[in-house]
Amino acid sequence: MEDLTTQSLTPSEAGISRAAWLLSRGALVAFPTETVYGLGADARNSLAVAKVFEAKGRPQFNPLIVHVASADHAQNFVTWSDTAQLLADAFWPGPFTLVLPLKTGHGLSPLVTAELPTLAIRVPADATAQALLDAFSGPVAAPSANPSGRISPTSAAHVFAGLGGKISAVLDNGPCAVGVESTIVSLAGPPTLLREGGLTRERIEQVLGKRLMATPTSDAITAPGQLASHYAPRAPVRLNAKTVFPGERMLGFGGIDGDLNLSATADLTQAAARLFEYLHQLDASDQPIAVAPIPDTGLGRAINDRLARAAAPR
Ligand code: TXA
Ligand code: MG
Repeated sequence: MEDLTTQSLTPSEAGISRAAWLLSRGALVAFPTETVYGLGADARNSLAVAKVFEAKGRPQFNPLIVHVASADHAQNFVTWSDTAQLLADAFWPGPFTLVLPLKTGHGLSPLVTAELPTLAIRVPADATAQALLDAFSGPVAAPSANPSGRISPTSAAHVFAGLGGKISAVLDNGPCAVGVESTIVSLAGPPTLLREGGLTRERIEQVLGKRLMATPTSDAITAPGQLASHYAPRAPVRLNAKTVFPGERMLGFGGIDGDLNLSATADLTQAAARLFEYLHQLDASDQPIAVAPIPDTGLGRAINDRLARAAAPR
């Protein structure tokens, strides 16, 4: 793969228009969203999208989320429904992704959907992401901007560490506010939770007025977020640790302290925002990581889901 000098861009007018220009030329630009940094490419340009898989070292069968500026824009690509409108009104822009049937004549690269009949689509809230989508005025395919199988990036420094030299630019707007990926709900059938994330299941169910179905394990959806060791640090990870063993580094939570504490006040939102940053920091030491128990409620479920993948045998 070609060796690039990865530019750091500020979210100024000049930085945003440079980023939009690079996207329109088929280059890869990492950009902040409120969840994690995305690795953006023009979703209509297969060469650009192929570069995403190449840069990430990601298996080609993983479909990508398409980012657009508004729900109106989303309707150019997917078959809309009353339920989609209800959820979009409640949660867009925000850390929420809808999977809907692809509309004919959508014009997207087949690499984006990995040839599925559905599309994952999202309107991010982050001001820099919004400015970029406005300036580019097209659909931006963007997985998390990390090498495949590694921890999602929540700062521009994480992106440089993982993908520097492989992408054209990084738009730097500091750390991500939410810190875990978007919650994914499929409306291709009965409303189904495909991935826990920054928006809690309870809030979605409140708006829907009914329970979400669980991910159908028999279904052949290629949702590699579901691959067991998808979010893996290099070092082994031990969960539900109440004490630290010799040679380990400890990731604390609440009253169980460690080298780093996800939230001394046991605040799950704060813990989610810090999770990947702290895993990156602990992983840099190449020592095994012990993690304190995290309550399995609300955002704690998304945190535990990612920790379970980090700890899975590989
Ligand atoms: O917060 C996020 O969602 C971030 C930011 C950048 O938007 N993006 C992100 O993308 O996490 P990625 O590619 O790392 O994860 C997207 C997940 C994958 O597990 C993929 O398989 C699933 O979404 N996905 C994409 N299209 C799908 C589809 N049509 N049906 C089911 N799952 C899909
Ligand atoms: Mg990812």
